[in-house]
Amino acid sequence: MKIKLMENAISEEEIDAAIACLRSGEYTQGKLVDSFEKRFAEWNNSKYAVMVNSGSSANLLMAFMLKQKYGLKDGDEVIVPSVAWPTTVYPIIQHNLKPIFCDVDESFNLDIASFKRMISPKTKAVFLVHLLGQPAKVDEIMKICKEKNLILMEDCCESLGATHNGIKVGNFGVMGSFSLYFGHHMTTIEGGMIVTDSFELYDLLKSARSHGWVRGSPRKDLYSNYENKDFLFDMLGYNLRSTNLNAAIGLVQLKKLDESIKIRLNNHRHFLNKIQKLNLKVQKVDLDETTSFSLAVIFNTKEERDYILKSLGKYEIESRPIVAGNLLHQPVFKSLKVKSDKTPMADIIHYRGIYLPNNQFINSEKIDYMVDSIGNLLQDFRK
Ligand SMILES: Cc1ncc(COP(=O)(O)O)c(C=O)c1O
Repeated sequence: MKIKLMENAISEEEIDAAIACLRSGEYTQGKLVDSFEKRFAEWNNSKYAVMVNSGSSANLLMAFMLKQKYGLKDGDEVIVPSVAWPTTVYPIIQHNLKPIFCDVDESFNLDIASFKRMISPKTKAVFLVHLLGQPAKVDEIMKICKEKNLILMEDCCESLGATHNGIKVGNFGVMGSFSLYFGHHMTTIEGGMIVTDSFELYDLLKSARSHGWVRGSPRKDLYSNYENKDFLFDMLGYNLRSTNLNAAIGLVQLKKLDESIKIRLNNHRHFLNKIQKLNLKVQKVDLDETTSFSLAVIFNTKEERDYILKSLGKYEIESRPIVAGNLLHQPVFKSLKVKSDKTPMADIIHYRGIYLPNNQFINSEKIDYMVDSIGNLLQDFRK
């Protein structure tokens, strides 16, 4: 039995939609992107959605907004969890802001005590990550943000469909980012999305993803004297656009999303029952909230973890370290000499953690096989 971290979720229906798009001759960002954004926003109960070419690009634009819309100054501090994806943090640095790393808790999300410890007069924002499908402690974080006047942004790249108090992630902060990379809850092959309830942010994000262009924005009325309003630029920007071709695939995938999330959740429930017999720690998830990206396990020692990670291939089971581990151990952040709290839990995740595949093609039989295989390997290791 071969169990892969990513399965091909592109079926004939997506291929037909892509071919129809190619036949239409309308390839670049256009009506299909518009309608994908509209449907995505509806699905997430958000007012607006802006499609970009990756989750990293979504994060880049959100960090840019900290300066463009919220007026943060060079050197202002942004809180981040130390277990995240590198491109949650790079855009903060690339915009001359200072990431402040905090530890995580047993759900692998921002630890509240560490967060409180690391707030300084220079702290202006929090870039929250909902890791591996499990939402962070949103209520407490929002309360602190309100008290300290901090801007909250959410990186939901691994957590499409996760909820807290019945509200989908991405709707708690001023903006939320999603990755639509191959193997995520839904895919456009490469792709990303930003959701927001603010029209002003929506308008700025659309310009920022497209050269700082004013085209299509009500901002054009501010420039009544400018001669050619179709070629008017009033802010810095990038080209981070996606295409109609990717949106055509996304529109089909979106129809299947609820079902995929349901399967992942059932798998996770089964996994939690089954893994109990091995007496190992797992990511603490709330099955009423999580959207399950993968099945994360913490072993007793680094040596045990390394042995399992190395040996699972024998059983044709793919596995990997948890996200990028503790980012503070990555050479890129070491060389940048970033500021951080102590991170004992992130270290446990880094040195003793792995995650196993979960997706809409996994079932209880495959989970039994994965857990039994780990059980066998643990016995071998302990001999
Ligand atoms: C938490 C997190 N943020 C950002 C990203 C970047 O998304 P992408 O690969 O679409 O650029 C990822 C990637 O999976 C991620 O896990």
